[in-house]
Amino acid sequence: MRKPLIAANWKMNKTTGEALSFAGSFGQMFYERFEGDDTPVDVLICPPFLGVPALCAVFAGKPVNVGAQNMYWKEKGAFTGEISPSMLKDAGCSFVIVGHSERRHVFGETDEDVSEKVRAALDHGLKPVICVGETLEDREQGKTHEVTSNMIKAAFSKVKAEEIPSVVVAYEPVWAIGTGKEAKPGDAADVIGNIRKTVDGLFGEATSDNLRVLYGGSVKSGNIRSFMLEEQIDGALVGGASLDPNEFFKLVEIAHKTKR
Ligand code: 13P
Repeated sequence: MRKPLIAANWKMNKTTGEALSFAGSFGQMFYERFEGDDTPVDVLICPPFLGVPALCAVFAGKPVNVGAQNMYWKEKGAFTGEISPSMLKDAGCSFVIVGHSERRHVFGETDEDVSEKVRAALDHGLKPVICVGETLEDREQGKTHEVTSNMIKAAFSKVKAEEIPSVVVAYEPVWAIGTGKEAKPGDAADVIGNIRKTVDGLFGEATSDNLRVLYGGSVKSGNIRSFMLEEQIDGALVGGASLDPNEFFKLVEIAHKTKR
């Protein structure tokens, strides 16, 4: 069975001080609740780069993963403003978000960039969280499956079959991000089912049984249960609702109760 994963993408929010204050409150609730349990839900927090070292320090040896929201794929060199996979690894990251729609649409990241980043992440022992999703226009034109499948094919073009368990996909329809308009859980499960089919087509039947696929887009404590009830959905990648420690803890608790 795939272990649920609840991931926070803080985007460009929280100073290091604010990140530490979140970590204190969330950590207390999380350790108290799951003390002695073999943490049945994986938790991941992705702060801005500057918050990474501080969060890695507070969560060192604890069952809370810290990840980055982006990176460049080269090892080092003249790439002003960029961060390398080995720098993230050295700081204590275990995951990195790749190809988020804001990276694609605001910063012009291409499918080719995403595939390079996925390869580099795996080469450095970082688990990539690959984001894919259609725009409203794609959806209205009936292109959701085609668009998401093409993004998956590109993102997985440099991945080996045996690496699939170290990869996470987040299906985030662009029109559902930050809008308060979440996808219908059944629709999200349908797209994720097609994503699994695409992965099986690339790597062989049932490969995607070992691939965790999350839903993202306006997830909150009031709707996460309906997503977690879908067999295809292994967790959530959460923006706005992950900024508050109480709300984020609720998401983890509901995911745990729904999936066990
Ligand atoms: P919201 O949860 O704020 O809609 O953001 C989703 C997202 O983009 C997570 O990566």
